[in-house]
Amino acid sequence: MDAINWSDLSFGYMKTDANVRTHYSNGQWSTPEVETSEFLNIHMAATCLHYGQEAFEGMKAFRGKDNKIRVFRMRENALRLQRSCQGIMMAELPVELFEACIFKVIKENERFVPPYESGASLYIRPLLFGTSAQVGVKPAEEYTFLVFVTPVGPYFKEGFKPTPMAIMREYDRAAPLGTGTYKVGGNYAASMQSGVKAAKLGYSAVVYLDAKEKKYIDECGPANFFGIKDNTYITPKSPSILPSITNKSLIQLAEDMGMKVERRPVPVEELATFEEAGACGTAAVISPILRIDDLDAEKSYKFCKDGTPGPISKKLYDKLRAIQYGDEPDVHGWVTIVE
Ligand code: PLP
Ligand code: COI
Repeated sequence: MDAINWSDLSFGYMKTDANVRTHYSNGQWSTPEVETSEFLNIHMAATCLHYGQEAFEGMKAFRGKDNKIRVFRMRENALRLQRSCQGIMMAELPVELFEACIFKVIKENERFVPPYESGASLYIRPLLFGTSAQVGVKPAEEYTFLVFVTPVGPYFKEGFKPTPMAIMREYDRAAPLGTGTYKVGGNYAASMQSGVKAAKLGYSAVVYLDAKEKKYIDECGPANFFGIKDNTYITPKSPSILPSITNKSLIQLAEDMGMKVERRPVPVEELATFEEAGACGTAAVISPILRIDDLDAEKSYKFCKDGTPGPISKKLYDKLRAIQYGDEPDVHGWVTIVE
């Protein structure tokens, strides 16, 4: 392969050596197989194509100074995929099988795990979808689980630098009793119009509000939201957001640092009181927010006065990355070393 410029990677797809697949039929998952093709051969009436019976995950592996490869919170991703499967009536994948597929795909693509010094990582994308032919709207009887990997750099090209985001009230991503809490493709389709519009206007992401009242912060495009004030980490509680594993980790780290944590509805006006704000997720890690423009209300909330990340966001970011790369002890048991 051509030499990869590891320090220059963006968040995109790169072909690697192999992916891993298992198929579900007659109530059973098959033994995982290694596949070198990047393509799928599926029935044109498959439920994933017509009715969005598809869920995915996003996780990362990191190469440490000791050259060991560490996967971050793999079990949490396996469990969230099971919840997504319940949410849209798909066959659930056992946790052990999920983990076996993840180990296999990493081993097969070991040479694509970026070196420690690059600050890049291996993004792991598991997906599960209905494959059997159906024209009536009902769940498939057969499913495929597939996992591929790709080396990545930062999701927002600025990396750990504050970027502006926007509130746009004419779009919703997910309804309170809908599928926002599951990681299903349809939610991302619902976010495309607003996402493209925001990018055209120079924003890195849309800050979605709760769809019912448009009063509270939901989340930031493909990441959860947090705000910091008075030594307190504040993050929205909402039935229409994805339970972010990064956010769950940051909550723990904030508590470890002696901060208070509040998970509760966050009214838009409260933005004016935050000293720092950020978006967090596997891809986003922590992406500090420079300012949030509320486009309909013609208001702007600023968080980084001099354009640099706030001290608490920086501390949380450094701590999280240190655990992920194995620079600091993994006291919470979040990391699995790929042997
Ligand atoms: N919210 C949405 C909509 C996402 O797509 C993601 C990414 O997975 C997150 C939040 C962050 O979740 P996690 O930290 O588990 O990656
Ligand atoms: C992730 O953070 O893993 C995501 O899934 C975000 C996005 C690229 C959809």
